Amino acid sequence: MIIAVDGPAGAGKGTISRALAQHFSLKYIDTGLMYRALAYKALAENVDLSHENSLVTLAKTLTTGDLQLPELRMEEVGNAASKIAVLPAVRAQITLHTRRFSQEITAPYKGVVLDGRDIGTVVCPDADIKIFVTAAPKVRAERRLAEMMQSGKQPQQNMLEQIIERDQRDQTRAASPLVPAIDATLLDTSELTIRDACQRAVAVVAAYQNENVQVLRSANGCR
Ligand code: DC
Repeated sequence: MIIAVDGPAGAGKGTISRALAQHFSLKYIDTGLMYRALAYKALAENVDLSHENSLVTLAKTLTTGDLQLPELRMEEVGNAASKIAVLPAVRAQITLHTRRFSQEITAPYKGVVLDGRDIGTVVCPDADIKIFVTAAPKVRAERRLAEMMQSGKQPQQNMLEQIIERDQRDQTRAASPLVPAIDATLLDTSELTIRDACQRAVAVVAAYQNENVQVLRSANGCR
């Protein structure tokens, strides 16, 4: 089973994806981490964030070990990731990595949950289930600030502006912009608790599984 979970930063897709992975015994892949890892390497090696060829060369060297660094969660790395994510050749390289990782799934996993921006539209257009998680920018900014305070980081003053700027860049880029796939289920978490949001996502997947069982049963002549 392949589940695509897309949406803007701070909407809750990471938490929802992890909950789905745990509930349905699936492997979780955070594709944003790949863009972050590449951006982090580029910043560390002074590679120009608009230099597509150098970034593609760097992207080819990415390994799963590069995805483990705690620094990847920093806001500046997220903003740099959003900048390099506009480059089509960089996206093509990361899409190749993502598809390879998702094909390497073995037991005990029964499939994969991919969390990103273009999973349902570009990376896995044939995913079994597509969920587009969203929330109002103000709510997402408040969540990010609360997370920062909780982890003892200095809260940033212009979080809402940064979120709006990042949304704008992610949604308007020419290469695979952030848009819901036509067949995605929309999940707005603005007024939901984490628990409720996860439960709704679990219900979407359970309904899909149930429907499939019914189709199989009727194909086999059962009621
Ligand atoms: O989900 P995140 O905040 O970790 O993602 C960081 C940036 O990476 C985001 O601003 C856009 C980009 N990204 C993307 O373009 N496509 C993906 N599938 C995942 C992330």
